[in-house]
Amino acid sequence: MSQDSPPKKILVVGAGTMGHSIAQVFAQAGLAVDLVDTNSRVLETAISKIEANLATIKEAEGASPDEATSYTKQVLQNLSATEDLAAVSETADFVFEAVYESVETKQEVISRLEDQISKDAIIASNTSVLDLFDEIRVAEPERLLCAHWFAPPHIVPLVEVVGGPETSAWAIDRTVSLLESVGKRPVVMRKFVPGFIANRIMMAMADAAEELIDSGACTPTEIDYAIKTSVGVRLGVVGIFQSLDFNGLDLIAGDRPLEELPSYLRSKVEAGELGVKTGRGFHEYDSPAEALSSRDLAYLAVLHTLEASTDFEPIR
Ligand SMILES: NC(=O)c1ccc[n+]([C@@H]2O[C@H](COP(=O)([O-])OP(=O)(O)OC[C@H]3O[C@@H](n4cnc5c(N)ncnc54)[C@H](O)[C@@H]3O)[C@@H](O)[C@H]2O)c1
Repeated sequence: MSQDSPPKKILVVGAGTMGHSIAQVFAQAGLAVDLVDTNSRVLETAISKIEANLATIKEAEGASPDEATSYTKQVLQNLSATEDLAAVSETADFVFEAVYESVETKQEVISRLEDQISKDAIIASNTSVLDLFDEIRVAEPERLLCAHWFAPPHIVPLVEVVGGPETSAWAIDRTVSLLESVGKRPVVMRKFVPGFIANRIMMAMADAAEELIDSGACTPTEIDYAIKTSVGVRLGVVGIFQSLDFNGLDLIAGDRPLEELPSYLRSKVEAGELGVKTGRGFHEYDSPAEALSSRDLAYLAVLHTLEASTDFEPIR
């Protein structure tokens, strides 16, 4: 394989919760995928999970059972499952590692991969919190990076990508291109942080929820209800900082003296960039009225979808 031709053969190591679903993404996109796990039962379950996932995807598209079966057959033709890593390593153009979250296991797998894969193949780890750039030894650090998927990978678009101090720009670019080519939405981070972006924000929410429960203010069920019916409608449309733009950044700053504001907010307030109402905040807006209208149309679409889902309400 030349350094510039797109990867054709994907190797996914670890077929558990994440690995089977990552393999599915590439098989659905028509790439040849080898899925490896040391546990034969996990490999068998992985195939049945992929079959069930594909049936659900087809159900959501309104396909008939026959169409779903034929699609599943077509996707599974792109996928081989094996316990024998050595047998499939040499031909891999790109490796996604999704084994246990343990430095020892990841070290063992990545060392074996380094011995066996071609010199142009990239190794992308799905680690959640381990700083592999610091914690494991590699011979060629330029081709090691993290590609952190968000569960379930076959549905959620985000993949957080980050290199270590010695990862090559080529490896990062190639990873982003591959992920985009299969419909994912990679975000390249500037440095590794345990938990990456989305999980860190989720954990901050979980910490706040724990405080609320400990204080006796509400129950877990009430928190889920409040979140689903509020930020659940909002966040998918505007995220965090665009949400603040709609609030107005002067409101967010409140009566805190400028020097007490975090620098990212202070610079905006000082520049008079107060969000949608001034045409610029963390994002830019051509017309405040149009921004409000398109936001509300998106909120209504999300709300209608959630209300149509049987899983939106059963939490009381
Ligand atoms: N579960 C999640 O929601 C989630 C989300 C993002 C990232 N991650 C990360 O993804 C990685 C995998 O997590 P998971 O939840 O899929 O774990 P899992 O336990 O479901 O799967 C791990 C698999 O690795 C296999 N394995 C262990 N050693 C192996 C080896 N030497 N060779 C081949 N296979 C081996 C195991 O048999 C197991 O099936 C972890 O690093 C985790 O932190 C998990």
